[in-house]
Amino acid sequence: MKFTLNVWRQNGPKDKGHMATYQVEDITSDMSFLEMIDVLNEQLISQGIDPVVFDHDCREGICGMCSMFINGEAHGPGRGVTTCQLHMREFSDGDTITIEPFRAKAFPVIKDLMVDRSAFDRIIQAGGYVSVNTSGNLPDANATPIEKADADAAFDAATCIGCGACVATCKNASAMLFTSAKVSQFALLPQGQVEAADRVLNMVKQMDLEGFGNCTNTGACEVECPKGISIENIARMNREFLSASLTSK
Ligand code: SF4
Ligand code: FES
Repeated sequence: MKFTLNVWRQNGPKDKGHMATYQVEDITSDMSFLEMIDVLNEQLISQGIDPVVFDHDCREGICGMCSMFINGEAHGPGRGVTTCQLHMREFSDGDTITIEPFRAKAFPVIKDLMVDRSAFDRIIQAGGYVSVNTSGNLPDANATPIEKADADAAFDAATCIGCGACVATCKNASAMLFTSAKVSQFALLPQGQVEAADRVLNMVKQMDLEGFGNCTNTGACEVECPKGISIENIARMNREFLSASLTSK
C-alpha cells in the first residue's frame, strides 16, 4: 500500500508549525499506524530530514502515550483502539492521511506530534490516591465486601489510560471524562472514602487551574475514548463535587 501523509511539523513550543506532505510506499495492511510512521521516519532520516517526533511506549494500548489526531479523529478511525492498535487495513491504498497532535491549551505541543500532558499528572497529584496501610498488618482483601456492581464500575473507571483523547475530541477541551474516571474509581470503593471530599474538590480545582474547558454534555469524549469510559462518571463526579462542596469546612 502507499499513502500521502499530511503531517504537522513544529520545531518546538514557540514555533508556529506547518503541515508537510510526504509519500510512503511498501506499507502492509498488517502494519500498525505507528509502524507506518516508523517507515516514514526511516525514509526521512535517509534523506537527511528530521524524523517526525511522536509519543509512544507500550504499543499495545496500555500506556496512553500515542496521542495523534488522524483524519480529524483522536486515535483515528475505529472505536476502542489507541493509535498503536490502529492498523493500516483501516485505510485504502492511495489514501491521503492527515496527522496532527492532540490540540488543547492545556496540552502544549513539545515538538511535531508530541504534546505535554503533564497537566494530567498534576490532576492526579491533587487527589488521585488513597491512604493505604503498609505496616504489614493488612486486612485480608476479601474481608472488605464490595457490591459486584460497584466493583465492576470502579474497575471500568480504572481502565482509563490517561491518553487525553477525550480532551482532544471535546470542543471545549474539557478533561471531565479523565478526571471523573479517576475520581470514580475511588468514590465507588470503601478504601476511597477517607479522602473522598478533598479528592474531588482538589482534582476539580487543579483541572480548572490547568486551563481545561468545562463540560457541555456533548458526549464526544465517550465516543472517542479508546477504553469506553462512560460519561456516567462525569455525572458521578458532579454529584461527589456538590456533596463535598456542601459538607466540607
Ligand atoms: S477517559 Fe478515555 S480518552 Fe480520556 S484519558 Fe481516559 S482513556 Fe483516554
Ligand atoms: S503506545 Fe501505549 S497506548 Fe499506544
